[in-house]
Amino acid sequence: MSDLEKEPANGSVGAAREHATKETVADARRIVAATTKKLASMHKNQVHRDPWPDFEAFEVARYPVALRRAAAWQWISRAQAEHGSVHQFSAVTHALTEARAPMELLGALARLITDEVRHVEVCARIALTMYPEGNDAFFQWRTPRAPWSDAPRIDPNDREASELRLRGWASRAILTACALGETLSEPMLEALVVVSTDPLPRACSEQILKDERFHGRFGFEALAVLVPALDETEKNALQEQLGRALAGFERTTCGKTRVEDLVGHEVEIAPSTDPEGRPNLGTLSEREFAAIFYATLEQRIFPELEAVGLDPMRAWAERGKYPAPASKQRPEASAETRAAE
Ligand SMILES: [Fe+2]
Ligand SMILES: [Fe+2]
Repeated sequence: MSDLEKEPANGSVGAAREHATKETVADARRIVAATTKKLASMHKNQVHRDPWPDFEAFEVARYPVALRRAAAWQWISRAQAEHGSVHQFSAVTHALTEARAPMELLGALARLITDEVRHVEVCARIALTMYPEGNDAFFQWRTPRAPWSDAPRIDPNDREASELRLRGWASRAILTACALGETLSEPMLEALVVVSTDPLPRACSEQILKDERFHGRFGFEALAVLVPALDETEKNALQEQLGRALAGFERTTCGKTRVEDLVGHEVEIAPSTDPEGRPNLGTLSEREFAAIFYATLEQRIFPELEAVGLDPMRAWAERGKYPAPASKQRPEASAETRAAE
């Protein structure tokens, strides 16, 4: 299901409020609220990057409310997916620290976490800037949940085996979130830069894009370090996770569109994709997401997966073994440019 399909219809925000559980009451305004002067300064030094997008310059009155609202919905969904990345990468950092992984892995991961904090802020601020009329129900915030089970605990009586299991867990998480998720986000952000007709969504997409290029690369570099240190059982579990993750990404990225639907139809990502020349505030259609997804898997991701010893074609052929989970206990794997569920 695409983000737009899930967007509450005009006038139904009251219904969204009714469905808001205890988990989802924190709204986006609280997430980006000011705290203390000193924390603001530390945060700015660490997280803000020049040139910080000029949110003040956005001309609300220039665009119809329906367009701003639809764009704000995609940006706030993106903000929550980015928040999910902070949650996931900090958990992976914790697991790799317990597994006594090399500091170079932790150093690179530490940068990923600050980058994702920046992305949460950029995406939440642009959503709030574009749609100042949005109430707390529209901007309600989910508690982040990782699309995998928690890391195994260290058994002090069997540290070698515990560390092996932790490396296996971290490999599956990095495969899903970085090698797949981040590498998929990159061309989606490239497309957002191209289709955006306003300088603010373009500046926000460009800033995030610079980081995501690094994140996808980190995924494959980390796998090159971790995979050779796995045993056959953990390697098989990683290959199985690849099939499960591909099935999840296909569902969360492509909605109802499948690769067969795109055969023979050119999907062009260009500044003039709208035949009526309507403005675009940083949104892509389900078809555009799907076209980017399938092309990126084939051209960029599968060769890299083969290089780290995985079999992407087998995983792709077997992805039908992993239907959408009936329970909503765990979200499915999704790229940062899509809502997590
Ligand atoms: Fe991100
Ligand atoms: Fe990222």
